[in-house]
Amino acid sequence: MLLINTRKELKDHLSSLKKNDSLGLVPTMGALHIGHAALVERAVQENSVVVVSIFVNPTQFNNPEDLENYPQTLTADLDILEKIANHIIVFAPNIQEMYAENVTSTTYDFDGLDKVMEGAFREGHFDGVGTIVEALLTLVKPTRAYFGEKDYQQLQIIKKLTEIRHIPVEIVGCPIVREENGLAFSSRNERLTENMRKEASFIYRTLTTAKKKFGTESAVYVTEWVTKQFEEHPELELEYIAIAQADTLKPVVKKQKNKKYRAFIAVYTEGVRLIDNIALN
Ligand code: PAF
Repeated sequence: MLLINTRKELKDHLSSLKKNDSLGLVPTMGALHIGHAALVERAVQENSVVVVSIFVNPTQFNNPEDLENYPQTLTADLDILEKIANHIIVFAPNIQEMYAENVTSTTYDFDGLDKVMEGAFREGHFDGVGTIVEALLTLVKPTRAYFGEKDYQQLQIIKKLTEIRHIPVEIVGCPIVREENGLAFSSRNERLTENMRKEASFIYRTLTTAKKKFGTESAVYVTEWVTKQFEEHPELELEYIAIAQADTLKPVVKKQKNKKYRAFIAVYTEGVRLIDNIALN
């Protein structure tokens, strides 16, 4: 494994690649878990060279406390990556390296994708994500870049980013990886007590029942039903449940046969914010 901390060293290294090498990029903020490992394994299968970036991006945090509490576990992360493949290049820059003096976001027009759900509750979040992902894609120039569907809205926004910035890369969305009880893997799960980690499986159980109900009921009915389930489980505080078109993320007004829909949810418990989503048809 090669650990690189500067843009210059990474650029120099990548410039020595052969013409027919394919390059996979997996952007992460570290605190790697099984969900990240699945992205990296896929990148290793599909590309001759793989770069995994580890950078806790300050501009995508709307809550300073959340940034402060974000786990930084570089040694453990390197162990996980080494076990997947020993030829992985790890890019772990510091803040100055990625932002120089100016730690601010670019403002993007994501055609409304950033105005709903996570965008509505985390002001500026997607401008921060766009800023760092654009910087990484421009620096690494990968053939493919890998993102998890747990952050499904982020995935759609990154696809839009590459379209509006004309960045030639294939964005690969990878399925959500879940703990045995159904809870989606997230670096934030580590901050839950063992008991709450079990209780939080209620989120996925509710989504799977919502999916069944969506087969016969309206989006409004299903939304109200989910809200009621959480009212009966006050230890899990529902921030939002939204049913939207899978591509535009626009709320469902009336179900149409040829459209794909998804349910999105954000829940607070023990001061930790958990998100999840599910394809409904
Ligand atoms: O999904 C994440 O971990 C982050 O939002 C990303 C894509 C690495 C950008 O900082």
